[in-house]
Amino acid sequence: MGLQESEALDVERIREDFPVLQREFDGQQVVYLDNAATTQTPKRVVEAISEYYYEYNANVHRGIHQLSQEASIAYEEAHDTIADLVGADGREETVFTKNTTEAENLVAYSWGLNELGPGDEVVLTEMEHHASLVTWQQTAKKTGADVKYVPVTDEGHLDMEAAKELITDDTKLVSAVHVSNSLGTVNPLAELADVAHDHDALIFGDGAQAVPNRPVDVKDLDVDFYAFSGHKMAGPTGIGALYGREEILEDMEPYLYGGDMIRKVTYEESTWNDLPWKFEAGTPSIAQGIAFAEAAEYIDDVGLDNIRRHEERLTEYALDRLAAFDDIEIYGPTDPTERGGLVGFNLDGVHAHDLASILNDHAVAIRAGDHCTQPLHDKLGVAASARASFYLYNTTDEIDKLVEGLEDARDIFA
Ligand code: ALA
Repeated sequence: MGLQESEALDVERIREDFPVLQREFDGQQVVYLDNAATTQTPKRVVEAISEYYYEYNANVHRGIHQLSQEASIAYEEAHDTIADLVGADGREETVFTKNTTEAENLVAYSWGLNELGPGDEVVLTEMEHHASLVTWQQTAKKTGADVKYVPVTDEGHLDMEAAKELITDDTKLVSAVHVSNSLGTVNPLAELADVAHDHDALIFGDGAQAVPNRPVDVKDLDVDFYAFSGHKMAGPTGIGALYGREEILEDMEPYLYGGDMIRKVTYEESTWNDLPWKFEAGTPSIAQGIAFAEAAEYIDDVGLDNIRRHEERLTEYALDRLAAFDDIEIYGPTDPTERGGLVGFNLDGVHAHDLASILNDHAVAIRAGDHCTQPLHDKLGVAASARASFYLYNTTDEIDKLVEGLEDARDIFA
């Protein structure tokens, strides 16, 4: 399969939307395989940002003047677009945050600190990103709650039988990554939600690696909270979203205090604005919010099922090519339909950082390290792994370049 041969997508056409993919280093065109860290940005998203600054830059919710009204409408409507993307009921359930991490912290501070106490339990998974793991670990310490972890099997799946034992009437919250950024595993979030709700616990889904590349419906998943980031779905940095069930968000205290999140302020008391503004204190990331919605429309236009299928094909191809190396250990499920578009691995005798550095000499960008999942790497018995992660513009030719770089690394270190 080459550039133009993907069944799911017209990749050649799509690549024209991303000028950065034409960059060359020492005459070699960049092969960008670090999409789980951040994706590239299509022209129309960049244009949405410049259009805001060139044509209607103003603060939101504060001005009677025309520019402020235009900015306010665009920023508010961006919430509706993002709500639609994940099947939320509307902007009331869609809080803009800086990123997934801030969304986790918002819930930890607003809900966790008020609702958790000694004897309560928070159930996480062993494959949580630090955004969730550290946040709930520290919130548990502050409140006297305990944290438990659903184990990961040798095949890279969640042990759902263990999950059913671990989640009890003492559980107040389950927080699980929807698609693992290290193993690629697609977790059965809806099943976990059922188990959590059977015990009257809430469930938080970390959708940072899911929303960019597959259809997500928070109502079908039946999650109470769900978070994702703009910069991993062809949008800008500095913007993400927290979905929360409206009745739960209504009951929660604000996370940050300040302008715009209030309704009435006296020297003694304050009351809070409507959702979602109650959770968006101060001047928000206006251009980023508008561009976030543009990115959502872009990936929706391409088709999230098409993106998912394209990533599955690339993953299958990468797994096949890497399987030909007898000195590569691949992490996560072997079936490409059970994983997102990323492959974590180690080449025997070569530190992942060295591997990334040699690949960089081939203009191939991957990530090396613990990918913000240190405890999972401890469990795997490695300090670091290399990770190639794909998006809608990647091709099998690029995976061939990755493999050439790996062969070179093996020759250098042999
Ligand atoms: N969470 C991002 C990653 O996995 C930064 O690379």
